[in-house]
Amino acid sequence: MANYHTTTTINGDAVEFLCEPQETLLDVLRDRLGLTGSKEGCASGDCGACSVMLDGRLVCACLVLGVEAEGREIETIEGMADGERLHPLQTKFLEHAALQCGICTPGFLIAAKALLERDPDPSETEVRYWLAGNLCRCTGYDKIIRAVLDAAAEIRAG
Ligand code: FES
Ligand code: FES
Repeated sequence: MANYHTTTTINGDAVEFLCEPQETLLDVLRDRLGLTGSKEGCASGDCGACSVMLDGRLVCACLVLGVEAEGREIETIEGMADGERLHPLQTKFLEHAALQCGICTPGFLIAAKALLERDPDPSETEVRYWLAGNLCRCTGYDKIIRAVLDAAAEIRAG
């Protein structure tokens, strides 16, 4: 099958790749570009492990075609830390031990960051609703929710 040449921006860098028309953005990120932080849990839009930002919107990369990235801006978990400095959400996930196997963690972090950029002071209920599309089969959700609320407080405090 023919490969399509696609030009996009990922974590602020101009990126070009070739992909087949049926390839998902998740497959492109992981298999063609080596950005394996985004995980595949279900490949059907149900688990949120593949969450990325596409033109500022939270999406499941398993439901987006690679060719749809043409001319768009993508943010992945690889762009979340500032060099060696972790994002407060990443720090709080570590402090609260809000992960075990880590498969769900990049998706939770991307989704939580999207929430805090929209609403820096969400209630616990709002965090739980916002993250309802992200599934974890290991940790239990309470530590994750605590980590997000703690990170929000730290970001608000500057
Ligand atoms: S792998 Fe995309 S939502 Fe589960
Ligand atoms: S830490 Fe294993 S799925 Fe969430």
